[in-house]
Amino acid sequence: MIATMTTPSTNGLTLADWTQTMQRSVLRQMIAVVSQPGILSFAGGLPAPELFPAEAIAQATAHVLATDPLALQYRPPHPPLKWHIVQLMARRGVDCTEDQIFITTGAQQALDVLARLLLNPGGQVMLEETVYSGIQQVVAPFRPDILTVPTDLDEGIDVDAVEEWLAWGARPAFLYTIPESHNPLGVSISPERRQRLVELARYYHLPIIEDDAYGFLCYEGEAERPMRAYDDQWVFYVGSFSKIIAPAMRLGWMVVPENLIPRLTVVKEAIDLESSALVQRIVTAFLDAGHLPGHLETLRGAYRDRRDRMLRALYRYLPADTAHWSHPCGGMFIWVELPHGVDTAELLQTAVECEKVAFIPGHAFGVRNGHTLDDHSHAGEGASHCLRLNFSNCPADAIEEGIGRLAKVINQSFHQLDGGTTYGRLSSH
Ligand SMILES: Cc1ncc(COP(=O)(O)O)c(C=O)c1O
Repeated sequence: MIATMTTPSTNGLTLADWTQTMQRSVLRQMIAVVSQPGILSFAGGLPAPELFPAEAIAQATAHVLATDPLALQYRPPHPPLKWHIVQLMARRGVDCTEDQIFITTGAQQALDVLARLLLNPGGQVMLEETVYSGIQQVVAPFRPDILTVPTDLDEGIDVDAVEEWLAWGARPAFLYTIPESHNPLGVSISPERRQRLVELARYYHLPIIEDDAYGFLCYEGEAERPMRAYDDQWVFYVGSFSKIIAPAMRLGWMVVPENLIPRLTVVKEAIDLESSALVQRIVTAFLDAGHLPGHLETLRGAYRDRRDRMLRALYRYLPADTAHWSHPCGGMFIWVELPHGVDTAELLQTAVECEKVAFIPGHAFGVRNGHTLDDHSHAGEGASHCLRLNFSNCPADAIEEGIGRLAKVINQSFHQLDGGTTYGRLSSH
């Protein structure tokens, strides 16, 4: 019921070759299925709707429409918004200028534009084995050779593996990574690894796409500085207002070397001409009015509480010697690793049907058709024993109940795996 994907007939129409291997986002499909009424869902990757700053956005919108008659016109990127982004970047410890800011229609478009700029058809890209699915969709039309590297739940991307690939002779068009509160893994890259990645980027002339979608959602003081703070030539920073104001703004940005802006502009024009002039002005008015710092505090407080409740419930209901999970310092996700042999896609089916609780199975984030360092063969779906839990978009007081229900199904699977001899915790819930 949950993971089926049908390819609609094209009625004899010949489509571009790459679409033969095109996959609808498994994630989006699953989220639609498991978000039915009555299901307690940890599946989506969405911000909490009750925390959207709707009133402040309404005021900003009214102000813009009343004062700027050209807000509804085609317009070039809005300089005051770039000014605000430079201030935001300073808060992340990044020193940049307005000339280095490129406005995009969400972070997703930034990834698309950068891939179009850097990647040749059939070229190489380097991705983590478990990765944000949006980057796979972006590179798919190029039918690239995907070189994969592992990630550990303590320090993030395996930099030794990156180095090994490069020393072996790989020359990817770029390495894509998420420095802070990884989606889906919930891990942040340690400062040492960030430093080493930047050194490798410089030495091997490897562009790094640094997707910092969660960099402003840190629940333990301020997040580490992104790699762009260490290097302004090889690190292409991607930011987004989706998680800190609202996804429907569809507004993001990049920080890139200034000389790339004219080329990026041409690439973006082919996609959507420009990002909404109206939205750029609304976000600018929101920022001008000084709403962001207070709003960020509200978000951080609420999400910190939800994260803590979820971690406490995991410790309470799952055997920590058998299941392992990440301890995100920010963002929206916790990644849970179960013993090999547990199939979380099957588990989801049971969880939804029997316990009315949902998550995303790990295989949804596994790189498809990638090469691993070991044997340079296909990486496959190595995360099928893992699952992603979202803690931002569920009521705080439902988290413990939901994890309890999920643990019931998980512990049952351990029981089956083990021939019914150990893990008797099931009966305790
Ligand atoms: C890591 C990551 N990058 C990019 C995006 C897309 O963000 P946007 O809404 O700004 O396009 C998401 C959305 O969930 C994400 O998790």
